[in-house]
Amino acid sequence: MSQEQWKSKIGFIFAAAGSAIGLGAIWKFPYVAGTGGGGAFLLIFLLFTLFLGAPLLIGEFLIGRKTKGDAITTYQRIAPNSSWGIVGIIGVVTCFILLSFYSVVGGWIIIYLFEALTGGLTGLSQDQYGMLFGEIIANPLPTLLAQLTFVLLTIIVVAKGVQKGIENASKIMMPALFILFLLIVIRSLSLDGASEGVKFLFVPDFTKLTSETILIALGQAFFTLSLGASAMVTYASYLPKTQNLPRSALSIVLMNIVIAILAGLAIFPGVFSFGLEPNAGPVLIFAVLPAVFSQMGFGMLFFIAFLILFLFAALTSAFSMIEIIVAAMTKKDKSKRKKYTWTIGILIFIVGIPSCLSYGVMSDVLVFDKTIFDLFDYAVSNVLMPLGALLISIFIPLKLSKSELFEEIRLGSHSGKMFFNVWYYLLKYFTPVAIIIVFMDALGLIDK
Ligand code: PFF
Repeated sequence: MSQEQWKSKIGFIFAAAGSAIGLGAIWKFPYVAGTGGGGAFLLIFLLFTLFLGAPLLIGEFLIGRKTKGDAITTYQRIAPNSSWGIVGIIGVVTCFILLSFYSVVGGWIIIYLFEALTGGLTGLSQDQYGMLFGEIIANPLPTLLAQLTFVLLTIIVVAKGVQKGIENASKIMMPALFILFLLIVIRSLSLDGASEGVKFLFVPDFTKLTSETILIALGQAFFTLSLGASAMVTYASYLPKTQNLPRSALSIVLMNIVIAILAGLAIFPGVFSFGLEPNAGPVLIFAVLPAVFSQMGFGMLFFIAFLILFLFAALTSAFSMIEIIVAAMTKKDKSKRKKYTWTIGILIFIVGIPSCLSYGVMSDVLVFDKTIFDLFDYAVSNVLMPLGALLISIFIPLKLSKSELFEEIRLGSHSGKMFFNVWYYLLKYFTPVAIIIVFMDALGLIDK
């Protein structure tokens, strides 16, 4: 079977980091942290990321590289004649629903970019930025067009194939994003009253923690690392045996944490300085950042650069979502790649239309008390991804022996027995137990 391979080790890290770093760290983290009370949320999120996310990421990498299979085949190869392939199917469904609303937010970035380039964002007051954004996303035609543009960009790159499409660009854009974030943070921290925002982000107030926020922090940890959807399984299937999996995983975890904290530091000082509410929800970053930029020299120029990188980060994550589905569907016939990518992409756009309209004409349509956008987001982040993660953490130690796993981890790395044992026991016991407890707690099944 011929499999594509990543061109270089660093290329893989950037591509996998590109999948991980996206709207999750930049757009979602600040608003879920803002709604979840700030510091306490950050702390729980970090603990979940380090003790559940990192081991699971190594695990997903490991089975992907070992089997060289797509999301579904991987489980079938390791456990033939079993129903474990369902884990891959959950991943495919997750990515499908995820991209349907992810592309809505991707579209918002495109609209903002257009507005910034055409001067629509210049010279407004802080309140006006928030209001303008509300007006923009309520307007069906431009938002749908922008969403479609985002989906089309994703389709075009992925239809071309993994190597050419994803790898090259990530190497430049990711470091650029990081540097620009540093600049924004420096500006944010020098705003009047910035320290309130820093306190909000770093000083935990545990009274704000509820069972629901703990579940959201768990979902967020998986979401930002693209875990539970077998995305990282698929990406690692293109890896040579010489790749150091633990090191790749840990560097991705670290980059992701740094970007999430930078996003928080870019936004919360502005929130407090401008007297906004930290729990403004999905609109938070779009309402706050333009106001921060407007206070910088050459602000609009920096803002445009930021939007381009933000869009790129969202796209590299979107590539991985569609790649998982396409890889699973074209395993027998690679020549259908183009056709499937287009078909799936267009279907995703159609399914995403109600999410897009959730901020406008369909804002009154509520299911379980949530708009369609919020419902899809909730289902993916707080149900499907933790469920996928739970099943993967059970699957790996159940179906692969300890010695097989040790052998596989050692390929390309010099991990000792001690590191391996910590990883193994975290994955085998801590991860499933923690996920089950958080689920049960959120469902109100645990007496306090
Ligand atoms: N990790 C991506 C982000 O934080 O934006 C989202 C994501 C991508 C989740 C790919 C799942 C996935 F399969």
